[in-house]
Amino acid sequence: MSKRTLVTSALPYANGPIHLGHLAGAYLPADLYVRYKRLKDEDIIHICGSDEHGVPITIASEKEGISPQDIVDKFHEQNKQIFEEFGIHFDYYGRTSSEVHHQTSQEFFTKLYEDDVFVQKTEEQLYDPKAEMFLPDRYVKGTCPNCGYEEAYGDQCESCGTSLSPTELKNPKSAITGDTPETKETTHWYLPLGDFQERLEKWLDTRENWKPNVMGQVKSWLNDGLADRAVTRDLTWGVPVPLEDADGKVLYVWFDAPIGYISFTAKWCEEQTGDWENYKRWWQDPDAEIVHFIGEDNVVFHTIMWPAMLMAEGNYQLPSEVVANCFLNIQFPGEEEQKISTSRGTAIWIEEYLEKYDPDPLRYYLTMIAPEDQRTAFQFDDLISRNNEELVATFGNLVHRTMSFVHKYF
Ligand code: MF3
Ligand code: ZN
Repeated sequence: MSKRTLVTSALPYANGPIHLGHLAGAYLPADLYVRYKRLKDEDIIHICGSDEHGVPITIASEKEGISPQDIVDKFHEQNKQIFEEFGIHFDYYGRTSSEVHHQTSQEFFTKLYEDDVFVQKTEEQLYDPKAEMFLPDRYVKGTCPNCGYEEAYGDQCESCGTSLSPTELKNPKSAITGDTPETKETTHWYLPLGDFQERLEKWLDTRENWKPNVMGQVKSWLNDGLADRAVTRDLTWGVPVPLEDADGKVLYVWFDAPIGYISFTAKWCEEQTGDWENYKRWWQDPDAEIVHFIGEDNVVFHTIMWPAMLMAEGNYQLPSEVVANCFLNIQFPGEEEQKISTSRGTAIWIEEYLEKYDPDPLRYYLTMIAPEDQRTAFQFDDLISRNNEELVATFGNLVHRTMSFVHKYF
């Protein structure tokens, strides 16, 4: 058994509130795991925080007509508090907009740059002349080349799950003006994942007991062969690319966000021990294990891109475990089971739940129906009956009888 465990939960985007699906996918399982190990007196910490960069944030800010900084300030505080009220305890809940995080990510990028890890490419990318900006990731919508879904984003199709790049979309439209974009040349830095394929495969072969839903996705990526991935974007919101000829460019959010696991651990160490360098006890000491809890849409980033970044950097250990649940669906009375979708209004916000009810009945129910290896559905009457019949009647009765016997006879 390892001496120490560092548990991380995927950093939620600070662009909106936490809903049922978030909890069931990553945060509740991670909290249970940490509670269990703490009861066994193990040395364990749980790190999380707000993912405050990337297109999800700037789009939310444009939609609500407030600055990206105001958006992340609002949802960072709100989400932090909701987790606390729901009984999910983090030892540190950081922010990727913090100075320490910017510095750590820039140092990480610079190390890879100086070691000649990146490939620099100048290519045509989608550009919106009216908005005077490039359209990375979710700034463009169009038809998925894989399944034909018409509302696919430039980085991913939410219908079939395929990862995309904006230029792959058919019939692309700018998410800002609705216009058909033009193309324009721009320069970016790419992580050549193909260079890491062999090392990744060897490492993954040593990973026993990873869940089939995680390993399945990893294998299919590896079978297709790994391509170069851009780690920079033409955006103004984010961690500035620390190079001289890179004005108006920031690090890709999926490059800087996982580095948050490291920068937040350092912040926690500083708070606890006065010495931020103690983060090495978790990130560089083979006596420590790193366990990432994530949602299923985050698998490729945590099992391929992030480990490749860590291998390239060279000073850190790789995660021991990457644990992902499938998505949670929802079934309203008298309706078909459906996806939880913020835009279609089928999300249940934890804040609203907590206005009326205690955390434990929902924690119990989400644990019992956890979508561990397939999608499961949240149902209102099932929440009530599982609590009444299973937790209170069956389990409560067992505990009550056992305790009564113990009390009476011993
Ligand atoms: N913000 C991402 C999401 O909600 C998760 C980021 S996890 C990290 O899907 F590793 F990048 F931090
Ligand atoms: Zn699709």
